[in-house]
Amino acid sequence: MRCVVANWKMNMLWQEAASFCEAFMGGYTPAEGVQTAIAPPFPWLARTSQEVRSKGVRVFAQNAHFEEKGAYTGEVSMAMLRDAGCTGVILGHSERRTLFGETDEALTRKLAAARSHGLLPLLCVGETLHERDTEQTFAVLKRQLGILAEAGAGPLWIAYEPVWAIGTGRRADANQIREAHQFIREELRVLMGEAGEMTPILYGGSVTPETFDEILAIPEVAGGLVGGASLDPGKFLSLVQTAQG
Ligand code: 13P
Repeated sequence: MRCVVANWKMNMLWQEAASFCEAFMGGYTPAEGVQTAIAPPFPWLARTSQEVRSKGVRVFAQNAHFEEKGAYTGEVSMAMLRDAGCTGVILGHSERRTLFGETDEALTRKLAAARSHGLLPLLCVGETLHERDTEQTFAVLKRQLGILAEAGAGPLWIAYEPVWAIGTGRRADANQIREAHQFIREELRVLMGEAGEMTPILYGGSVTPETFDEILAIPEVAGGLVGGASLDPGKFLSLVQTAQG
């Protein structure tokens, strides 16, 4: 199975999102074996879901809280995401880890909460440039994936996003992607047994329509988690069509 996910981050007013949906859905044809998802900001989850669900495009959130409900001003629960039409949630994006102090402990609870509400967790892992330069890449990936040891069985997608390749136009080269994905696959096997064989591992970081073909050809790459290029309906459509072959 291949997966292509648009992470809009904190971009798009509703008028822009609506135009995106119209343009993208006008050209989109579903294909077997390829899942497409869009992760808009919270206020547009329900409306985006209404625009895209007829053709099976999934809507993911970019974050959520692990508590069921209560006095957590500014937070959004997994149950609310379900209510808004989401079927998945991005967890542990590097921007959340570095800018908003998201910890592995919180992610452990978020992963369990997502699954208990029937949401697919898309867990992001990846090293900073300093960590790569000091040869800590595999140790960092191992630590970040370690939360799966307590998570038990359940659906999961992983995204390998080297932090230095996000939004920089400097994507990881084929060798770096292959090494990291193979390492992640090995870890998933150890942590999850047979289920670790099937878990899709996406690559993210400066993915463009020009480079996606080459990225998809790398062993263990099941798709892409796309930021910048996913804001343009023509580019995102082209990425999805590349994955569809
Ligand atoms: P860019 O595609 O803009 O590098 O962003 C990648 C990303 O962070 C997706 O989650």
